[in-house]
Amino acid sequence: MDKKIFLLLWTSLVFSVRSIISSEGASVLAQPHCNFEYCISVSDEEISAEPGLCVVIPCSFMTPPNFKPQYLLWFKCESSRRCGNSDIIFHTNQNDKINLKPEFMRRVSLLDPDVNNGNCSIRISDLRESDSGSYQLRVNGLLNGYSDGFTFTKKTSVNVRGFRQKPTMTFPDLTEGHQTTLTCSAPALCSTSPPGISWVWRGAAEKEPLINGSITAFKNESLTAFTHRHLSTLTFIPTAELHKSNITCRIRFSDNTTTEETVDLHVNYVQITGNADLKESMTLNLTCMTSLSPAEIQWIKFGSKTNQLIRTSAALNNNTAIYLQEDRSTLLIFNVTAEDAGLYICSSKHLNNTIKDEVNVTVMSNQKSMTALLIRISTLVILSCLIISILWKKMKRTENLQEASEMVACHEDPLIHDGLAEADYQNCIPEGAENGTET
Ligand SMILES: *[C@@H]1O[C@H](CO)[C@@H](O)[C@H](O)[C@H]1NC(C)=O
Ligand SMILES: *[C@@H]1O[C@H](CO)[C@@H](O)[C@H](O)[C@H]1NC(C)=O
Ligand SMILES: *[C@@H]1O[C@H](CO)[C@@H](O)[C@H](O)[C@H]1NC(C)=O
Ligand SMILES: *[C@@H]1O[C@H](CO)[C@@H](O)[C@H](O)[C@H]1NC(C)=O
Ligand SMILES: *[C@@H]1O[C@H](CO)[C@@H](O)[C@H](O)[C@H]1NC(C)=O
Ligand SMILES: *[C@@H]1O[C@H](CO)[C@@H](O)[C@H](O)[C@H]1NC(C)=O
Ligand SMILES: *[C@@H]1O[C@H](CO)[C@@H](O)[C@H](O)[C@H]1NC(C)=O
Ligand SMILES: *[C@@H]1O[C@H](CO)[C@@H](O)[C@H](O)[C@H]1NC(C)=O
Ligand SMILES: *[C@@H]1O[C@H](CO)[C@@H](O)[C@H](O)[C@H]1NC(C)=O
Ligand SMILES: *[C@@H]1O[C@H](CO)[C@@H](O)[C@H](O)[C@H]1NC(C)=O
Repeated sequence: MDKKIFLLLWTSLVFSVRSIISSEGASVLAQPHCNFEYCISVSDEEISAEPGLCVVIPCSFMTPPNFKPQYLLWFKCESSRRCGNSDIIFHTNQNDKINLKPEFMRRVSLLDPDVNNGNCSIRISDLRESDSGSYQLRVNGLLNGYSDGFTFTKKTSVNVRGFRQKPTMTFPDLTEGHQTTLTCSAPALCSTSPPGISWVWRGAAEKEPLINGSITAFKNESLTAFTHRHLSTLTFIPTAELHKSNITCRIRFSDNTTTEETVDLHVNYVQITGNADLKESMTLNLTCMTSLSPAEIQWIKFGSKTNQLIRTSAALNNNTAIYLQEDRSTLLIFNVTAEDAGLYICSSKHLNNTIKDEVNVTVMSNQKSMTALLIRISTLVILSCLIISILWKKMKRTENLQEASEMVACHEDPLIHDGLAEADYQNCIPEGAENGTET
């Protein structure tokens, strides 16, 4: 009769413990292991856990009806021996002068604080590889009113393996010039200290860390009663240069170990390259590149005269050619005229989002350049004429002096002034020689 009730109670206990355990993802409890009327149920299989995360050691126990449980103690020691006072990692009596193993301080907690519920499951957080080993339970209480205790012989073993979960990164579609936010979530932790989250640029962006971005503070989301998800967000404005560069999110745990995840950024962009300052009859050669796939590139000219959006194919003459390649479109206009000047827009459609780039093409007309040339030539001509005439005058003056001395002989007048010289000279010059000097 007593035994029947006991078994019934026992199965219901195991059942409820089982349901908690499955929600925590830990292993399933084995059949109870009994000594006298002290029974314990723990996992037969080794419990695997990851460093940095936490583990729940599922456990339930029963004591004889004349025993009243007061405190629960957990030990960790080698599987071959019985654990002793130096192996205590957890004690529900926190007032007692008990020497807990220092490395377990503040990392162990009982899931159900009421020891009378027979729930001895504990959670160990901030796991380290050194936490691997065997764990043993003791219950202290009153047997028929007298202090007593019982150490369960069955142990449960935990293996903390060096495998780390990677962080998860999420981000929306990146478009050049449009502010965006990347999110990195650390693996779900039941840690008491938050992990360090850092962002590392690789590739083209490496030289310019954070490209004008900003990291917002951690977020701390509760997933279950024990686990919290830690997030870091990075807000920045993507550029075409960032396309195909790598970004890494690195998580540093309390034990200084790290785990990271790298993603290849895809930035939606459209970019025009080519010479936009032309002279008449040159060839306009513009290339429009895009990261969008498939690239539906369209060239539009915003005419300087018409002030209208014009589709290239419809509006331009036979001098135009467009070569479409996988990720780019090349626009060629041979023998450009002033009419070809204007704003050229390259646009590419991506879903319902159109991205574009534009370039202002100027064409210097040959007429203008001809005028400029004429002006330059005439300036040159005028200048050289001036120089020549000055030189000529000088030459003429020396000639005059010479002829003036001849004139002196002619007129026998010793007073010679520059102003008078010519008149005097004319008077004296022999006929026929006059024309030669005038020209
Ligand atoms: C053990 O403790 C957990 C956490 O408080 C609780 O959800 C669960 O019901 C308890 N199990 C039993 C058998 O009391
Ligand atoms: C996260 O929040 C929980 C409560 O929601 C808190 O107990 C825990 O200490 C916080 N962790 C950090 C690292 O801030
Ligand atoms: C990005 O990462 C991949 C592999 O993770 C690597 O092959 C590639 O070279 C990286 N690119 C740059 C620009 O670092
Ligand atoms: C950086 O961002 C600020 C606004 O957040 C903006 O005013 C500034 O021009 C940006 N600098 C560069 C180099 O993009
Ligand atoms: C982690 O590394 C930092 C420096 O890199 C050091 O100051 C700190 O003591 C280390 N912590 C542990 C737990 O090893
Ligand atoms: C246009 O420019 C591209 C690169 O700038 C060049 O490869 C191509 O040969 C040029 N085409 C013509 C017709 O000049
Ligand atoms: C364009 O070229 C076609 C033949 O290739 C010719 O029939 C047509 O007249 C040309 N149009 C112009 C505007 O030159
Ligand atoms: C360039 O255009 C001008 C005027 O449109 C024309 O006279 C000339 O023959 C053209 N030259 C070439 C090489 O097509
Ligand atoms: C694109 O279209 C979807 C529905 O068709 C709409 O929900 C979304 O807001 C649109 N996005 C933009 C950038 O217009
Ligand atoms: C294009 O350049 C010309 C000359 O520099 C200027 O007058 C015009 O305003 C520019 N147009 C645009 C749309 O930038």
